[in-house]
Amino acid sequence: MTKRKHKREKAQLFQALTRQSQSTFTHDEGPVPASVLAASPALAALAESRELPKMKKFRFQLMHEWILQRLPQGRVADVGGGKGLLSFLLQRSGWDATVIDPVEQALPSKYKDLNLNRRVKIADTDTVPRLTQAFAPELAVPFDLLVSMHAHGCNIQLIDVAAANQKKVILLPCCIIDEPLLPAPGQHWLACLIEYALAKNLMVEPFRLNFRGQNIGLYIQSVES
Ligand SMILES: C[S@@+](CC[C@H](N)C(=O)[O-])C[C@H]1O[C@@H](n2cnc3c(N)ncnc32)[C@H](O)[C@@H]1O
Repeated sequence: MTKRKHKREKAQLFQALTRQSQSTFTHDEGPVPASVLAASPALAALAESRELPKMKKFRFQLMHEWILQRLPQGRVADVGGGKGLLSFLLQRSGWDATVIDPVEQALPSKYKDLNLNRRVKIADTDTVPRLTQAFAPELAVPFDLLVSMHAHGCNIQLIDVAAANQKKVILLPCCIIDEPLLPAPGQHWLACLIEYALAKNLMVEPFRLNFRGQNIGLYIQSVES
């Protein structure tokens, strides 16, 4: 083989690998493909909702409802919480909620109450408690529940926290940014997270929220918690 041909083949291989890795672990905002669900024993039961899915911007209201229906009130960290709407809603429902996010952001000025089907204004003076820093395991200590919705840099750390500190954790994974491990080639990020949690003897309950896009959540807890 000539040197030039070898170089060309190496470049093609590199491009193919780059394409494959990008399709698996970058900003894929679409729904999880049915083939990924079917291939995973843990996810296979998650059929698409028959109800028309809501817009992605309603994910905070839908996660808030899921938490209220499933868990007793307590102290919750909204990890990578962005503007903090989930924490705001949980606070209004009596939870003690704190955003942990390295980027300081103001609450949105309004949101839609999906039960009353009307817009609700958030006053300029309203705030939620925030820790303006990247998540680190020691920050988990005061909380009963840690939720991360489409957050960066903390999915694996939160699974570690669930295992080491017996905390309840809810992940709504999205793209893979600043994580310490990557899925195997061809493996979906969700399947990788489930495998990682199961290997730590954690219980993993997948669920689907009724919005368009990356709507599969993982409720993770240790057997003892
Ligand atoms: C895609 S946004 C999601 C925000 C919000 N949860 C939502 O659903 O819209 C990702 C968030 O993760 C935050 N983030 C990035 N690195 C982080 C880290 N190491 N620990 C905690 N949050 C982080 C970003 O500042 C950003 O607010």
